Amino acid sequence: MQLLALLACALLVPSLHGHPIRPRAQRNSGLLTLPVRRVERNTDLHVDLRHQQNINRAQRLVARAAGLPGPSDVELLQNLHRRAEFIPELERRFNIPQANAGLPTIETSGIAKLAVENDDDTSDNAPPKLANFSSVIEIDGADTSYVITVQIGTPARDFNLILDSGSGDLWVSSDQCTSENGSGCGNHTFLGSDVSSSFVNSRKKWSITYGSGFANGEIVNDTIVIAGMVMNDHTFGVAHSISSSFSGDTIADGLMGLSKSGLSTQGVPTPVEALRNLGFFKSAITSYRLPRLIDNENNGEVTFGGLDETKFDPSTRVDINASNSSFWIIPLEGVSVDGQSVAVNSTEALMDNGTTLLVVPTADAVALHSQIPGAKQQGSGQFSIPCDTTTNVSLRFGGRDFAIDPKDLVFASRGRKTGDCTSGIGSFDDDKWLVGDTFLKAVYFSTNVDANTVTLAKAI
Ligand SMILES: *[C@@H]1O[C@H](CO)[C@@H](O)[C@H](O)[C@H]1NC(C)=O
Ligand SMILES: *[C@@H]1O[C@H](CO)[C@@H](O)[C@H](O)[C@H]1NC(C)=O
Ligand SMILES: *[C@@H]1O[C@H](CO)[C@@H](O)[C@H](O)[C@H]1NC(C)=O
Ligand SMILES: *[C@@H]1O[C@H](CO)[C@@H](O)[C@H](O)[C@H]1NC(C)=O
Ligand SMILES: *[C@@H]1O[C@H](CO)[C@@H](O)[C@H](O)[C@H]1NC(C)=O
Ligand SMILES: *[C@@H]1O[C@H](CO)[C@@H](O)[C@H](O)[C@H]1NC(C)=O
Ligand SMILES: *[C@@H]1O[C@H](CO)[C@@H](O)[C@H](O)[C@H]1NC(C)=O
Ligand SMILES: *[C@@H]1O[C@H](CO)[C@@H](O)[C@H](O)[C@H]1NC(C)=O
Ligand SMILES: *[C@@H]1O[C@H](CO)[C@@H](O)[C@H](O)[C@H]1NC(C)=O
Repeated sequence: MQLLALLACALLVPSLHGHPIRPRAQRNSGLLTLPVRRVERNTDLHVDLRHQQNINRAQRLVARAAGLPGPSDVELLQNLHRRAEFIPELERRFNIPQANAGLPTIETSGIAKLAVENDDDTSDNAPPKLANFSSVIEIDGADTSYVITVQIGTPARDFNLILDSGSGDLWVSSDQCTSENGSGCGNHTFLGSDVSSSFVNSRKKWSITYGSGFANGEIVNDTIVIAGMVMNDHTFGVAHSISSSFSGDTIADGLMGLSKSGLSTQGVPTPVEALRNLGFFKSAITSYRLPRLIDNENNGEVTFGGLDETKFDPSTRVDINASNSSFWIIPLEGVSVDGQSVAVNSTEALMDNGTTLLVVPTADAVALHSQIPGAKQQGSGQFSIPCDTTTNVSLRFGGRDFAIDPKDLVFASRGRKTGDCTSGIGSFDDDKWLVGDTFLKAVYFSTNVDANTVTLAKAI
C-alpha cells in the first residue's frame, strides 16, 4: 500500500520541521488552506538504494490500482539486492538476511554496511564515506513525507499527521497504545478519554496494513479542527497497536488518508468529504502546491474546498476526467523532450505525490532517456543523467504540455553540479506511468472527488 512515510526507526533525523503552523482561512473564497511541511528523512542509504525503494513502492501502488496482488516482500527485497550489485562503491556486505520463502513476513533488520553519499563534500569525485550502522532497511521506505498539524479533542491539542494520498483513514495513537516491539508508542501526543472530554469510543474495531507497517484499534468520535474548521463528533480511528515504523517516527502522531473514501477501512468519509457534508464548502476538492526543498523553501500548502488561485497561472488550467478507479488515473496524451515529441506506448498516468519519482514502463523510459543528452542506462536497468542537465521534459495532459523543472529530473543530487546523477525517471514493468513529485512539483495539482476530475495548472 502507498504510505508517505513508513520508515526505519533509529536513524531518521528529519532535516526540516518545527515551523509554526498558522492556518490561513481565506474567508472571502470559503477555502481553507493549511501549510504543509515536506519532511526529508535522512536514511543514510546509498542514493541508488533509495531510488530502488521508491521503485518498489511504485510497483506496489500500480498493482493495487490495477486490483492485482502486487509484488511480495521477497521480490522487493530481491530488487534491492540486485540493485546493490550495481553500486560499484558499495561494500559487498549488504547483509540483509536472505528472504525465507516460508515466512509470512521478512525480517529485514540486520547489520548493513553501506556506502553513504558524501553530504559535505560536493566535489565531483569525493569518495563515498563508509559508515557502520545497524538499521532496519525498509523494502519500500519513504524518504519524504508531507505533514500537517490539526487540533483534536477538548481541550484541543496539536497532532502532527502524515498526509497519505494512497489510503482513506484518519487515525492517531491512543493513550493505551503499544508498539509491535512490546513497548510504548514513542514520544508522541496520544488521544483518549482521560485527555479529551469530548472523546466517545464506539468500541468498534478497525485495522489497516500499509506497505510497511500497520495500525489497529477502535473507531471513536471527537472534535477535530482543520484549518480553523471545527468538526464536532467526527468519526475516525484511534490505534491501540502500531508497527515500530510508526512508534519510532520522530514527527507524526498519526496519519490522514486523503484518497477517495472508497479506500477507507473504517468505512467513514474522509476529512475533505466530511467538511463538504458539514457545508464548509461545496465540493470535496483537495488542492496541492508541493514545496520544493531544492529552492530552500518549505512553502507547500494544501487547500480544501477549492483552488488557491494565487498559486497557479489560470490561463494554463486544465480539468481532466479521471477514470473510475479509487486512484487518480488520467489519460497521458504525450511526452516531449526539448519540444520534440517522443513516441511512448503508455496512455494512462496515475497521479500520486506520495511517490517521489516519475516511474514509467521500461520501453518508455528507454525512449525518453535516449532523447536526453548525456543520459545513460546503467547495468541495473535504471538511468543516469548529467547532474547539471537543462533538458526540458514535458508531459501532455488535457491538451496542454507541462514541463518538468530540469532540476527535478535529477534524483537526490545532494548538491553535486557535475558528473552523472541518478535519473528522477525510473523504470518498471507496468503499463502505466506513475507520476510523482518529479513532475508534480512543477504544477498546481487539485482533485475533486465529487466531479471525479483532476485539475492541473502551471504552478507559480
Ligand atoms: C566499522 O566497524 C568495524 C568493526 O566493528 C570497525 O573495525 C571499522 O573501523 C568501522 N568502520 C567505520 C568506518 O566506522
Ligand atoms: C499530495 O500532496 C499533499 C501534500 O502537499 C498531500 O496532502 C496529499 O496526500 C497528496 N495527494 C495526492 C492525491 O497525491
Ligand atoms: C519529545 O518531543 C518533544 C516535542 O516534540 C521534544 O521537545 C522532546 O525533546 C522529546 N523528548 C524526547 C525524549 O525525545
Ligand atoms: C459519532 O458521530 C456520528 C456523527 O458524526 C454519530 O452518528 C454517531 O452516533 C456518533 N457515535 C457515538 C458512539 O457517539
Ligand atoms: C520499541 O520502539 C520504540 C519506538 O520505536 C523505541 O523507543 C524502543 O526503544 C523500542 N523498544 C525495544 C525494546 O526495541
Ligand atoms: C467529462 O465528463 C463529463 C461528464 O461526467 C462530460 O460531460 C465531459 O464531456 C467530459 N469531458 C471530457 C473532456 O471528456
Ligand atoms: C465511469 O463509470 C460510469 C458508470 O459506471 C460510466 O458511465 C463512465 O463512462 C465511467 N468513466 C470512465 C472514465 O471510465
Ligand atoms: C527549456 O524551457 C525553458 C522555458 O520554456 C526555455 O527557456 C529553455 O530554453 C528550454 N531549454 C531547452 C534546452 O530547450
Ligand atoms: C511500443 O510497443 C510496441 C509493440 O508492443 C513495441 O514494438 C515498441 O518498441 C514499443 N515502443 C515503446 C517506446 O514503448
